[in-house]
Amino acid sequence: AGNRTFTMIKPDAVGENNIGAITKMIEEGGFRIVSMKMTKLSEERAGQFYAVHKERPFYKDLVAYMSGGNIVAMILEKDNAVEDFRKLIGATNPADAEEGTIRKIFATSIEANAVHGSDSDENAQIEGGFFFADIEKF
Ligand code: CMP
Repeated sequence: AGNRTFTMIKPDAVGENNIGAITKMIEEGGFRIVSMKMTKLSEERAGQFYAVHKERPFYKDLVAYMSGGNIVAMILEKDNAVEDFRKLIGATNPADAEEGTIRKIFATSIEANAVHGSDSDENAQIEGGFFFADIEKF
């Protein structure tokens, strides 16, 4: 049991063959993988997913990057899932991320930062629903 968060392994980490290593850290961090899917975002879908950042200077690059390769979408379950997952992945900018965090180990830049993690329970719900149908949420 517990509550849920949403993550994506981003195109940089998929391209570097780090799906297995990242998934292993997620499981060893105490998260149960509830749903999991490899897919590719169109520019339109990437823009929708990050619509909250539409006015930010990095938005256009972010959409191009996120639609430029495959991603792995997952719903994860653990007590205190949203907060604990953000601790496991580390700061958005890998230069600021703590040692041992997923972004410190696998990210290459503030944009190509290996993984996404929801920032609230409400967004976890919305983001999970962006990729998974109700019958795929176990
Ligand atoms: P994520 O946690 O998925 O949320 C927004 C994404 O925008 C972020 O990770 C990065 O991939 C990307 N990004 C690029 N530049 C910035 C920036 N200056 N600040 C925050 N996010 C950025």
